[in-house]
Amino acid sequence: MKRLFSIISLIVVFCLPYSCKNEKAVTPDSKMGAFIDDLLNKMTLEEKIGQLSLFTSDWSSTGPSMRNDYTDLIRQGKAGAVFNAYTVDFVRELQRIAVEETRLHIPLIFGYDVIHGHRTIFPIPLGQSATWDTAMIEKSERIAAIEATAEGLNWVFAPMVDISRDPRWGRVMEGGGEDTFLGSLISAARVKGFQGNSLSDNNSVIACVKHFAAYGAPQAGRDYHTVDMSDRSLFEWYLPVYKAAIDAGVGSVMTSFNEIAGIPSTSNKWLLTDLLRDDWKFDGFIVTDYGSINELIPHGVASDQAQAAELSLKAGVDMDMQGSAFLDHLAELVKSKKVSEESINSAVRRILVAKYRLGLFEDPYKYCNKKREAEEIMTPEFRSFAREFAAKSCVLLKNENRTLPIPDNVKTIALIGPLADSKEDMLGFWSGAGQADKCVTLLEGLQNKVKGTVNIITVKGCGINNEGPEEISRAVSAAQKADFVILALGESRMMSGEAASRTDISLPGVQMKLAEFVIKTGKPAAVVLFNGRPLTITGLDKIAPAILETWFGGTEAGNGITDVLFGDINPAGKLTMTFPLNVGQIPVFYNSKNTGRPINPENPYEKYKSNYLDSPNYPLYPFGYGLSYTTFSYSEIKLNRDSISRDEKLVASVDISNTGDMDGDEIVQLYVRDLVGEVTRPVKELKAFKKVHLKKGETVTVAFTILPDELSYYHQDMSFSADPGDFELFIGTNSEKTKKISFKIQ
Ligand code: BGC
Repeated sequence: MKRLFSIISLIVVFCLPYSCKNEKAVTPDSKMGAFIDDLLNKMTLEEKIGQLSLFTSDWSSTGPSMRNDYTDLIRQGKAGAVFNAYTVDFVRELQRIAVEETRLHIPLIFGYDVIHGHRTIFPIPLGQSATWDTAMIEKSERIAAIEATAEGLNWVFAPMVDISRDPRWGRVMEGGGEDTFLGSLISAARVKGFQGNSLSDNNSVIACVKHFAAYGAPQAGRDYHTVDMSDRSLFEWYLPVYKAAIDAGVGSVMTSFNEIAGIPSTSNKWLLTDLLRDDWKFDGFIVTDYGSINELIPHGVASDQAQAAELSLKAGVDMDMQGSAFLDHLAELVKSKKVSEESINSAVRRILVAKYRLGLFEDPYKYCNKKREAEEIMTPEFRSFAREFAAKSCVLLKNENRTLPIPDNVKTIALIGPLADSKEDMLGFWSGAGQADKCVTLLEGLQNKVKGTVNIITVKGCGINNEGPEEISRAVSAAQKADFVILALGESRMMSGEAASRTDISLPGVQMKLAEFVIKTGKPAAVVLFNGRPLTITGLDKIAPAILETWFGGTEAGNGITDVLFGDINPAGKLTMTFPLNVGQIPVFYNSKNTGRPINPENPYEKYKSNYLDSPNYPLYPFGYGLSYTTFSYSEIKLNRDSISRDEKLVASVDISNTGDMDGDEIVQLYVRDLVGEVTRPVKELKAFKKVHLKKGETVTVAFTILPDELSYYHQDMSFSADPGDFELFIGTNSEKTKKISFKIQ
């Protein structure tokens, strides 16, 4: 406590003479600047380097630990931040060491991977994105921040916003899908949710947008693999999602493991300094990914750790995650004049600014509140939001003969499949501090709903990835006894996420066999899918009467899915990533180019066209796809005018009618195609969407306003503007099923 007072008095003492000199000039920023300058002046080079080092506690980690002596490092002033340490008592003790046992009493920042919830786990981010509901996404991050701060954390390694067009890559589960426009809105919403109204609030955390940059485009979908693309693609498709986070005020950025065109991100000065700091005006701090400075050696751009540290500091990195390269080499690099102390000062200043903004110098224990820890975790309100979120993330992929919702007269349900009752899997990868025992499985969700009025027979049928058939005949006889069958199939949670790329993204093991035998009984059957990526389920789509995509729904997965299965919630989710017909089509995504030899839709196998000999070009389910228990019809599109000047607005509207017999939500999507550009343009680009609620029988008019500037693209000289010319505008229920109209920009 004594130390705390001395820190507070340091702030007060420093600010007093300043305020006497010039009352008006004392802004919070100038106060902060003065405080930080004073502190920096007192710091030795070693203490400064300590601030640039981030170490994991021994709780959990995602890579080899280079240093296990983190408490000693804190005590010696050799750590500026710690990650993978939470809960109030643990954090308080580590913070106590930092503020009471180090010379300058500088508090630590506490970071953690809070990717889809902290204790209350929400659906995986790819699933969340299927809601297209940025308000819900923002709210989920607000809840995550409340829970995380109640357990001592003040920094999250999120949002992960990497655009990806390759479902083989396991980390697609963490992102917002393949589209840059939607991904950017989600990115900003997540930052706002985490950082709240002010970083100085005790329930806000510093967000960390990652992985900068283009980590989602590894060759062949293999994690950590090479990224190589044109500047145009980088700027147009991959960078805007990070920029959206910067514009939303994100406090930190994490570098990515990959190289881009030969330069690893962690040593890429153009990326980290010229673009991020100078052009985008990012004023927070840059942290590496786990040990990625050390990885500059196997990347082959540094011969040893000292050189790796030099390259990354000079590129613009402020904090070394777990690598110890800064800690072990920056002092000698300063002595040998390879690195200037001024560049170290700049990095330290950014870390201290973050600590100041969090209010840690005023109260290093502000996130160590036992009362909050007891009261603000997994509240009934948070759980009920998680349930709604799990339901709203579901995407109805198929529903032949209105198999779903489960009819009221069903008396016996056979629940079959390896994911029917797996608590652990409901968490998905990156499950923060989520606990499997707190998760509701599908079986439990069904039991909660029917409360004994429906008989539920459960048979596993096979394991998730078992080689041989097992229990399949028991599953078949359970199906025969039932009047409705639910097949809970998919991946285990560890089959997606980091270091979880797959070359075969079909249903693992013998699950397809199980499905075939069970569906052959002819009983009404719905497949409930659990997975972290688009799967190739073309065969399943042919035979299953109904398929509901539920991702990994988090703590309340079972309840949320059951709400959808019984029709208490009408599914409205739409895919944010294309589901391929087969793995050979990958990458297959909606906003591709037309090519000089576009496929002939009348004859998809015509020779010398851009197609395959053995597969159509179209995917199984396109971007934006998702059904409802009701049906919607779209009128033709109306425009306010069919030709606009550069400073006019285009207003496009459609009448949408709910033609089925249930109320429902529809995500109405607007796409544009620029027919002739200075460079080639995609066949469609999402430019706007609206989620509307329609009562059965209701018709609403949905209008969108488009400004010519929103049709800008990168020209040959990389200038960003819109051209006059002819455009097509599409409005529809998904990226393929649309109405079309033409317009001009003069
Ligand atoms: C991941 C990051 C994560 C970090 C810390 C790395 O392996 O790539 O996304 O934030 O570990 O856990």
